[in-house]
Amino acid sequence: MRLDKYLKECGYGSRSEVKKIIKNHLISINDVIVTSSNYNVNLSSDIVKFSNKIIKYQKYYYFLLNKPKGYLSATSDNSQPTILDFFSAYSHLDLFPVGRLDKDTTGAIIITNDGELAHRLISPKYHVDKVYIATLDKNVDSSIKEEFESGIMLGNEMTLPSKFEVISPNVCRVTLHEGKYHQVKRMFEHFNYKVIALHRERFAFLSLDNLLENNYRLLTDDEINALKSITNILK
Ligand code: URA
Repeated sequence: MRLDKYLKECGYGSRSEVKKIIKNHLISINDVIVTSSNYNVNLSSDIVKFSNKIIKYQKYYYFLLNKPKGYLSATSDNSQPTILDFFSAYSHLDLFPVGRLDKDTTGAIIITNDGELAHRLISPKYHVDKVYIATLDKNVDSSIKEEFESGIMLGNEMTLPSKFEVISPNVCRVTLHEGKYHQVKRMFEHFNYKVIALHRERFAFLSLDNLLENNYRLLTDDEINALKSITNILK
């Protein structure tokens, strides 16, 4: 990879900014100063340093965000805040959310620039859990459990079997392996309940634990490998 591209993708500035850094003798490769922007970096063996600090190249990034209300699950919008606003320090990475949560839904969402993994995590084919806590406008009749668990006709599509649990008179936990448009709200609407609050408490095996609303963290290597393994990227 060209040295200027390498530095840009590591977050060291625009193409012209990193060219200046290189010209100013601030970059060394294997402890030799390099002043040529088109130097071809060997990603597996070269050690690139900026003022003696190693710059490690990483192609893909994976974050878990605890989404607050009021943010769109989109990369940009002309008039409304999006969850990418939390990641302005990483604007060079082309991040995007894995699937969508509605503007008024809170909770766990993965942000990445790894398209293949994202695609698999939202595909029903890999049965990845998406676990929601839905607060309803009235107490729930637990007889709807059976239909949630066998499948509900929404428009002209049948939902896949989901898991359903009543956790207090008007609060339910629903586990889906798919993500149709407004799915949880529409499943409850089918039985004349209105969802007044929706929170995703877990995505795959990733719970929010101590991650506060508005905060995000990088996934660990073990977590990334586990996501790749449940979606058959790592066999
Ligand atoms: N189902 C919904 O209705 N909304 C969400 O944000 C997620 C799942």
